[in-house]
Amino acid sequence: KYDVQLCEVLRRAQTAENTFDYTVLAPKLAEVAQPGQFAHIYVPGKTLRRPISICDIDKKNGTLRFVFQIRGAGTEQLSKFEVGDKMDILAPLGHGFTFDPNAHNLFIGGGIGVPPLFGAARQCGKNATVAVGFRNKDFVILEDDFHAAGCDLRIATDDGSYGHHGLVIDLIQDVHPDKIFACGPKVMLRAVTEFAKAHNIPCEISLEERMACGIGACLGCAVELYDENGETYMGHVCKDGPVFPAERVVF
Ligand code: FES
Repeated sequence: KYDVQLCEVLRRAQTAENTFDYTVLAPKLAEVAQPGQFAHIYVPGKTLRRPISICDIDKKNGTLRFVFQIRGAGTEQLSKFEVGDKMDILAPLGHGFTFDPNAHNLFIGGGIGVPPLFGAARQCGKNATVAVGFRNKDFVILEDDFHAAGCDLRIATDDGSYGHHGLVIDLIQDVHPDKIFACGPKVMLRAVTEFAKAHNIPCEISLEERMACGIGACLGCAVELYDENGETYMGHVCKDGPVFPAERVVF
């Protein structure tokens, strides 16, 4: 149940190296959007819209928030939108996270895989433990936002320039959540899936990072999945995901 809306940019900020944070007025889309879903934003001069994950949804004020990194000409063009400009947005798309905000949820994110987790974590507030990893201190994003939401936030960096020096998986060994949600690089998702399996914890992972066109046109997001009988088949992140039960993904 998606829609298209011309959405006024209410806020624009550069939050880290090549990373931009936008809030747009999109009451029709915010009303139906769920954390973990994504949007298709029209880029002036390009044929295809860019898939951008929804970072947060404010149903009361009718806004959507997007935090994205410049990855090519399309996202670079998107980062040029100024406050007052109107973005042509098609949303919400894909399957989001299934979570109970009152349960103890663990969110694990890496780099630009962190924004898709934010909306769900914010709704869980103090019930959420959040473990996020970044390349170095210049790439850390959403720290103040997770704190403001009351989440138990743990940060790791690859080079130790901020937080724990090492992997996010090191930060979660003492956590015993009801459910795990993760988004980030494939190696991280594999480690999280193994952790969840070893501890018998339900887990959902978002493969959002692996999308290119987002509409089933490039086939660049093909992913091997298990069906209910354990047989493998090829699915598409943009159409079947981006969120999958961890046990369905073949690593
Ligand atoms: Fe292009 Fe899925 S992202 S087909």
